[in-house]
Amino acid sequence: MLKIITDILVIGAGGAGLRAAIEVKQQGCDVILLGKEVLGCAHTGMAMGGMNCALVAPATPQFHAQITMEGGYFINNAKIVKAFTEEMPARIHDLEYYGVMFDRTESGEFYVWAGPKQKYPLNVCVGDYTGREMMQGLVDQARKLIVKYCDEFFISKLLTKSRIIVGAYGINLKTGEHVIFQSKAVILATGGAGRMYAVTTNAASNTGDGYALGLDVGTELIDMEMVQFHPTGMAFPPSSRGVLVTEKVRAHGGILRNKKGERFMNKYYPKEMELAKRDEVSRSIYQEVAQGLGTDNQAVYLHVDHLEKEKILEMFPDVYGLYKNVGVDISKKPMEIYPSMHHMMGGIRINEWGGTNIAGLFAAGEVAGGVHGANRLGGNSIAEGQVFGRRSAISAVKYCAKVGHLEPVKSQSNQERERIDAYVNEKSDTPPHEIESKLKHIMWEKVGIFRNAVGLRRAQSDVAVLIKEANHMRARVSDQPRNRDLQDCLEVWNMLKTAQTVIKAAILRKESRGAHSRTDYPKELKNWQKNIVVAEINGRLNTKIVDPNS
Ligand code: FUM
Repeated sequence: MLKIITDILVIGAGGAGLRAAIEVKQQGCDVILLGKEVLGCAHTGMAMGGMNCALVAPATPQFHAQITMEGGYFINNAKIVKAFTEEMPARIHDLEYYGVMFDRTESGEFYVWAGPKQKYPLNVCVGDYTGREMMQGLVDQARKLIVKYCDEFFISKLLTKSRIIVGAYGINLKTGEHVIFQSKAVILATGGAGRMYAVTTNAASNTGDGYALGLDVGTELIDMEMVQFHPTGMAFPPSSRGVLVTEKVRAHGGILRNKKGERFMNKYYPKEMELAKRDEVSRSIYQEVAQGLGTDNQAVYLHVDHLEKEKILEMFPDVYGLYKNVGVDISKKPMEIYPSMHHMMGGIRINEWGGTNIAGLFAAGEVAGGVHGANRLGGNSIAEGQVFGRRSAISAVKYCAKVGHLEPVKSQSNQERERIDAYVNEKSDTPPHEIESKLKHIMWEKVGIFRNAVGLRRAQSDVAVLIKEANHMRARVSDQPRNRDLQDCLEVWNMLKTAQTVIKAAILRKESRGAHSRTDYPKELKNWQKNIVVAEINGRLNTKIVDPNS
């Protein structure tokens, strides 16, 4: 089997992974950046509204930290938040250096807009296509530094020796070849798991790979019950369902109305109105529709038709284009929107330097947990990926200076090869997409915006049944080297493993806090200002409850 040796393997080539690889390379260490997609096509590119940073007075990093903690209902890790907010201005300047042209005012200042809780605006942006521009800058910089990149590779297992990372096992998706990467350290930057939900803003690649890889080698996951639903996903037509309509629209005058034309946020959050926090606006929309006040497409309206067309085109050209493509001119007609699964606040438990409980394993970006607590503020995601991408790289480089390469254990890679081959050799006829669509339905219906014990328990047993079925998923043999069915089998498995952790933690948290709303425990409870940590021990999911700053 082909073996590729490097000091540091970065898995995932979105904003955080690219930033990590750039830093490793700048520090003079050997690195391979690896992604499932063609370079530049990761989910980060779909980010619209912007990134938070205290760049323009009176905003300060302390203010940024304070609202991040408040927005996260105080279960974020304060040390991580402090590192994030203090370091953010320098990371914006890096991006500018890489060529990202952030919007500026006529006098040359950064253009900053105010999202929820931002008494002082923090959101720097490039139109409503910030992620795309940011990816372009990062890719250009990685190319300039000649960062080695393996595109369209799928890592299916991390390789360890006595709980120390020694590399990873993967498949070259273009050729079907199995490959062993031997590395002293791995940085996981694999993004989230939106695809386990029926409706999501996430790209097809967000299948929870990093959570499953981490669980398999004993990493701790934190806050997995905290799943963010963005209030405004496209609701119609069905082919566009879930696609992100940026918060920037509401921050620039967009108004929510029900089918009767009532500005319903009045009833729920009269002070904050459309700029209440994401969990709050999502619940309000859910309730309007549940009360029969939604449109025929089970949605509500988002109006910008009272704004000047020039302003719409200047501020949110991509949103204008998305609706134009489906026959709606948003300068004349309202958009139909409904919440869409958007972000995993939880993830691999890291410290403020991206370190985990496994030697040689670091994590950054959405796959990591601890920054956002129970609810993420818009603009904090692609931002923190820059800080912790760089920080995890610095930690990994330091770690590598102290350790040598360890030879991967042969039996581990042989077992992984057998696991993968079993999908191809399977005789039963269980296609992965069948299990995936059942999972999406379970998660959307029972582990969604509102939850309760009955639904969560049901989801737990339904997913357990799916796991059994998934042991017999079959990847049809392809006449092409690329076997999409096989990739689906591996991804569906990862989504199932991730879903189990979300449900387990959601059952345990008997209160409502942020994105976790229990109809059977509707109150936020002081004694639950804690985090739930999940880890797999001897094949079983174990949980513990910890203090946010432990
Ligand atoms: O609404 C948005 O543009 C999304 C931003 C974010 O999730 O940070």
